[in-house]
Amino acid sequence: MSDDGGAGRLDSKTAVVTGGSRGIGLGIAAALLEAGANVVICGTNQSHLDAARRTLRTGEKRLETVRADVRKRADVDRLIATAVSRFGGLDILINNAGVGTFANVADLSDADWQRMLDTNLTGVFYCCSAAIPKLRKRGGGWIINISSLAGKNPFVGGAAYGASKAGLNMFSETLMQEVRHDGIRVCYVMPGSVATEFLTPGAGDTNWMLTPEDVARVVMDLLAQPDRSLPSRVELRPSRPPKK
Ligand SMILES: NC(=O)c1ccc[n+]([C@@H]2O[C@H](COP(=O)([O-])OP(=O)(O)OC[C@H]3O[C@@H](n4cnc5c(N)ncnc54)[C@H](OP(=O)(O)O)[C@@H]3O)[C@@H](O)[C@H]2O)c1
Repeated sequence: MSDDGGAGRLDSKTAVVTGGSRGIGLGIAAALLEAGANVVICGTNQSHLDAARRTLRTGEKRLETVRADVRKRADVDRLIATAVSRFGGLDILINNAGVGTFANVADLSDADWQRMLDTNLTGVFYCCSAAIPKLRKRGGGWIINISSLAGKNPFVGGAAYGASKAGLNMFSETLMQEVRHDGIRVCYVMPGSVATEFLTPGAGDTNWMLTPEDVARVVMDLLAQPDRSLPSRVELRPSRPPKK
């Protein structure tokens, strides 16, 4: 991906960002557009996609929005097919769409368990499965999975979310070994607290938290790596969280 000599330009590259309509995904989509990439974002809610299109208007000609639920294989196939038909191929997949409901196991509903596993884990499988043939066709590319420190640091109320992200970590490490010789580089990023609606509906002080732009910066740094280099796992923390 660094055929520009490492300057970070992504002109003529095409990226899909799942959950690109809000929060971290929106930040990543903005950074990719800024770097010259064609970008396809998806989400389940059309009004969120419409709002994202307004926010991302500077790169609008290189932006496509697709209403697609990563829990549904047919939606995912349509998402990846749209990237290929609109922009001619696929170079970068950012698996960012994710949900979290935090409750002790005894209190967690079956539906919430299923929703987290389906979105955070099965959705990533569907997207990778659909994208890998397209990435191979281009001679390689990137798959970057947005995981979480919750995938390695257990906390009360986080069993289902943490399990989905721990599963994603193992999935990513295994996939990395499967596709590296096709020139496809797989990395997972584990952020700590990021100030988005995911974590902070009506929350108090969020100034200490990471921002979507911080995560986007890590993603862009990854994409600017020379071809021989693969940082396969990144932990990203707020540098000064509240003292306990
Ligand atoms: N915020 C944090 O502190 C934090 C920390 C570590 C990791 N993460 C991870 O970072 C990722 C993004 O989180 P965020 O904080 O940006 O969350 P967010 O603000 O709630 O945004 C989530 C995005 O995912 C989309 N989405 C949700 N379910 C989907 C589905 N089934 N299919 C397609 N799109 C879907 C949402 O769009 P619609 O609502 O329109 O569907 C939205 O665009 C998640 O994987 C999360 O686990 C977040």
